[in-house]
Amino acid sequence: MAVLLTGGAGYIGSHTAVEFLENGIDVAVVDNFSNSSPKAIERVEKLTGKKVALYEADVCDKEKMREIFKANEFDAIIHFAGYKAVGESVAKPIAYYRNNIDSALVLCELMTEFKVPGIVFSSSATVYGVPETVPLVETMPTGNCTNPYGWTKYMIEQILIDFARANDFAKVTLLRYFNPVGAHPSGEIGEDPLGIPNNLSPYVCQVAVGRRPFLSVFGNDYPTPDGTGVRDYIHVVDLAKGHLQAYRHMKQGVAAYNLGTGRGYSVLDLVETFKRVNNVDVPYKIVDRRPGDIATCYADPAKANAELGWKANLGLDEMCRDAYNWQRKYPNGYRD
Ligand code: UFG
Repeated sequence: MAVLLTGGAGYIGSHTAVEFLENGIDVAVVDNFSNSSPKAIERVEKLTGKKVALYEADVCDKEKMREIFKANEFDAIIHFAGYKAVGESVAKPIAYYRNNIDSALVLCELMTEFKVPGIVFSSSATVYGVPETVPLVETMPTGNCTNPYGWTKYMIEQILIDFARANDFAKVTLLRYFNPVGAHPSGEIGEDPLGIPNNLSPYVCQVAVGRRPFLSVFGNDYPTPDGTGVRDYIHVVDLAKGHLQAYRHMKQGVAAYNLGTGRGYSVLDLVETFKRVNNVDVPYKIVDRRPGDIATCYADPAKANAELGWKANLGLDEMCRDAYNWQRKYPNGYRD
């Protein structure tokens, strides 16, 4: 028995692979390396002393995927693979719908064909759209997404809900991530975005190591304590452990869980913490708001705590320390 990690060479996938292997669960990874490196899997193997069955394939390629399902006996799929850049999804919506939706459909078809019961899906807080109140609770309405990337997450949730309704054997878990940051404390695996980072933490890291001159802080006139946007940053190792707990607690039907800390920090909180714990300068400039951003977003993680026995243990200090440790060790990510 093994678990299939689609997109397992990526940022969250590689950290999840470590947690599964360290807990004695065999892992297979399928990845087309469109936004990841096979080096991540080599490092996962080195860190854990365990082998990963690695397949280079596109999850949309059903014939190739069928061969992988034939060669293994999976009891669950953790589905990370997908396009994930908000801005790019606005410019290339059809590519996002094609890739993200197609891959989910292929997995549902093969799960039916091979009677694989479990799927844990990488969803996102973005499915809540523009929140009316915080913290966000799983029972709040979803939809009203602000970009095609968010809609693909919403649509895949719906596909999986319908899949579970129609198939008694199916166990579907939707994990709604808040803002994953940080890296494995070894500094051997971490976030390695292609090109200019869209997200705050990798941008801060690249400024700190001198790859970029300064951070642009997108607006300081939000209705928040210091005027900058507030988010629920979660250490990627805590997030990875959330997948392990979700896998252990899979049950028939559908369940959705927020994976966040329940605490919000502003952009400037993160920048100041990063400077303090790493003793490094992070020059920044306040610029205009980024279109589509919301003021405040954080989770109510009580359901994951009660039902999965999971809660985030690492704080902003550890997130900033580990993110910088990885970036300093490998300033150019997996290209070093
Ligand atoms: N920010 C900056 N400068 C930057 C980058 C970000 O000031 O260079 C600010 C943003 O304005 C925001 C905060 O930092 O206030 C966090 O921004 P990120 O881009 O890191 O994260 P988002 O909250 O915008 O997006 C994240 C995920 C998306 C997901 C979204 C909603 O990256 O995948 O949460 O759940 F869709």
